[in-house]
Amino acid sequence: MNVNVLIVFYSRYGNTRLLADAIAEGAQQAGADVRVRRVADLAPENIMRQDQDWWSARAQMSELYSEPTDEDLLWADAIVIGCPTRFGSPPAELKLFLDKLGPLWFQGKLVDKVGSAFVTTGTVHGGNEMTVHSLLTTMMHFGMIIVPPGYADTSMFAAGAPYGASAVTGPESDKPPTEVDLAAARFQGKRTAERALMLKIGKASLTSG
Ligand SMILES: Cc1cc2nc3c(=O)[nH]c(=O)nc-3n(C[C@H](O)[C@H](O)[C@H](O)COP(=O)(O)O)c2cc1C
Repeated sequence: MNVNVLIVFYSRYGNTRLLADAIAEGAQQAGADVRVRRVADLAPENIMRQDQDWWSARAQMSELYSEPTDEDLLWADAIVIGCPTRFGSPPAELKLFLDKLGPLWFQGKLVDKVGSAFVTTGTVHGGNEMTVHSLLTTMMHFGMIIVPPGYADTSMFAAGAPYGASAVTGPESDKPPTEVDLAAARFQGKRTAERALMLKIGKASLTSG
C-alpha cells in the first residue's frame, strides 16, 4: 500500500522552503509519494519588487512549486504545513490558505488525515513554538491526527524541536537552516509518512474485516 504526503509551505526568502524540501526527502525515504506546494504571495507586486531578495526567491520558488489545490488535499493521507513566523503567528499568506479550507472542513474531508507542522523564525525565541502550535490547532479543528516529531530520534535531541522542525534564520536569508535543522526535518517527514501508512493499513484492515 502506498502513502501520499502533501507538504504545503509559505516562504518569502527561501528558508522555510529548505525545511519543506528536507521533509519531502524524509517522506520519500519512507517510500511515500510526495507533493510539495507553495502558497502564493499576497503583497502587491510593487512592494515585493522593492525587496530584491524577496523578488528573486519568489521567482525561483514559483518555478519549482505550484500552489496547493483541493485535489492535492483530497489526495493526501498526510499533510505537513510550514511557514515563517510573523509577529509570533503564521503569515497572512498561509492563513488565507487555511481559511479557504472551510468547505473541505465542513464536509469532513480532512478528518483522520495525519497532520504535522514546521516553522522558521528570525530569532531564537521569536515565536517558533507559538506558530507551530497555531498550525496544529487548526489541524485539530479539521479532525486530523497530529504526529509531531517529538524526541523520537537522536536527531531530535540535537535539534530540540519536538513540536515540529524549526530553524532560526536571521532576518532574511543570512543564516539558512543548519544540517541539524534539516536532519530533524527529514526525520519528521519520515515519521509522518510511516505513521500515515500505519493508519491507512489499519483503516483498510478494519473496513475489510
Ligand atoms: C513582517 C515580518 C514579521 C516577522 N516576525 C517575526 C517574529 O515575530 N519573530 C521572529 O523570530 N522572526 C520574525 N520574522 C522573521 C522571519 O520569520 C524569518 O526571517 C523567517 O525565517 C523567514 O522565512 P522565509 O525565508 O521562509 O521567508 C518576521 C519577518 C517579517 C518579514
